[in-house]
Amino acid sequence: MELIVKNLSKRFGEKLILDRLSLSIESGEFISLVGSSGSGKSTILRLIAGLEHPSSGIISVDGTPVSGPGPDRGMVFQKYSLYPWLNAAANVAFGMRLQRMKPTEIRERTAYFLEVVGLSEAGNKLPRELSGGMQQRVAIARALATNPSILLLDEPFGALDLQIRESMQDFLHKLWQRTGLTVLLITHDVEEALVLAQRVHVLAPNPGRIVRSLEVDLNKSDLDQLRLSSNFLALRRSLSRTMRELEPSLC
Ligand SMILES: Nc1ncnc2c1ncn2[C@@H]1O[C@H](COP(=O)(O)OP(=O)(O)O)[C@@H](O)[C@H]1O
Ligand SMILES: [Mg+2]
Repeated sequence: MELIVKNLSKRFGEKLILDRLSLSIESGEFISLVGSSGSGKSTILRLIAGLEHPSSGIISVDGTPVSGPGPDRGMVFQKYSLYPWLNAAANVAFGMRLQRMKPTEIRERTAYFLEVVGLSEAGNKLPRELSGGMQQRVAIARALATNPSILLLDEPFGALDLQIRESMQDFLHKLWQRTGLTVLLITHDVEEALVLAQRVHVLAPNPGRIVRSLEVDLNKSDLDQLRLSSNFLALRRSLSRTMRELEPSLC
């Protein structure tokens, strides 16, 4: 799997939203794009997902240009992404049904992916009966169940309280380590990007463009320790400063 984005620009009407964005992701990589609200993060993800078309530039998966949505790209959004009238298992099964997998395979894979996200017992619960963190785990299970070559995450933990957010980060980190998934995580949270990603791109607003890219060369065997380590804190300060400098002055 290789995702390539090259010189991607997007206009809505007269307004330039994204300006010649380039990045690439190889199989098994975890990449994060961090940017403030309105910088064009969701637009990038929607373009990669094939829900919008580029004004110019190229997006390709394994050499094939993206021309629309496809099961090779699994998406998870910030919230409201589960079908409220379907229980957790039926939500996980939804994409597989669309793909017309065999019912026995759907049943097996649903059970398997509910287990992967630690929700084996919650299959018959409706979304409203689950906590926000559990709902996002179901959304991740649903995205994984169709066997995508890349997982596209648009601020998946943005609506969760800080403590739950950190435990979801730990969860996603373990999942990535265990499965060798390829992940593009979009977030406004510098700490989240640094904790999870191997490489972080900073998106500047108006128009959205990448102004800084860095490798996160830190020991990630224990995320609690990582969050307190001096190397991590120095990187976080540096990235936060970059983000602040991109904002219009508040004074
Ligand atoms: N369908 C659309 N039509 C017009 N403008 C849009 C559309 N989608 C997004 N935008 C504009 O593009 C900019 C970036 O939006 P978005 O990608 O949602 O940013 P982010 O996810 O970083 O908050 C915003 O100014 C938003 O108003
Ligand atoms: Mg967004």
